[in-house]
Amino acid sequence: MTQPFIAPSLLAADFANLQRDLELVNRSEADYLHFDVMDGIFVPNISFGFPLLEAVRRHCKKPLDVHLMITDPDRYIEAFAEGGAAVIHVHYEACTHLHRTLTRIRELGCRAGVALNPHTPITGLVDVLEQIDVILIMSVNPGFGGQSFIPHTIQKITGLKQLLVANQCPALIEVDGGVSLANAQALLTAGTDVLVAGNSVFGAADLLDAIYQLKNSRKPMMA
Ligand code: DX5
Ligand code: ZN
Repeated sequence: MTQPFIAPSLLAADFANLQRDLELVNRSEADYLHFDVMDGIFVPNISFGFPLLEAVRRHCKKPLDVHLMITDPDRYIEAFAEGGAAVIHVHYEACTHLHRTLTRIRELGCRAGVALNPHTPITGLVDVLEQIDVILIMSVNPGFGGQSFIPHTIQKITGLKQLLVANQCPALIEVDGGVSLANAQALLTAGTDVLVAGNSVFGAADLLDAIYQLKNSRKPMMA
């Protein structure tokens, strides 16, 4: 039984104790650190950018999963690649030439991710499946941590998994927003490979245990 990949979302960390939180993540079973970049235009919030990326890079041993919630992300993908991103997700809704953008991300040596807002249908991806390494399904409207999970996401992931299998596409499915132990099993059964979790891990009394629980949340199917 394969375990999911876990990506704690930095947005929910305690920035006054960032080094402490990053060292906890380093000691955990997390597979990535999810790094949310918001520009105040594509989403109604501003988060952080390159100075924080530089600080995180110095202390974090996990590969960086960069989620660009910004308009016209082509302007910055090279800088994030140079800044140490392992995966770069751009939003489908923010890209005029998605094929070109994804190709460029791979040329820069990163894995190419596409994020879909809750209202965006998966069918828009059929002509770029070969260019995608990861599909990031938003299970909240992006912009803020700590929001409630949108239940329709489970159906969307089931449909996406069918689409990927039908097209023999090896892209991973990642889910972001309101992920916790309450919905992890259903998300994994639907076909999710990567769970992003902010408040459910950084808000937990024991971050190491919260990540361990998510990592082990795939339960065996009943015979
Ligand atoms: C939301 C961000 C998420 C957020 C997740 O726009 O993209 O990565 O940090 O936080 P939680 O898990 O608290 O919903
Ligand atoms: Zn995110």
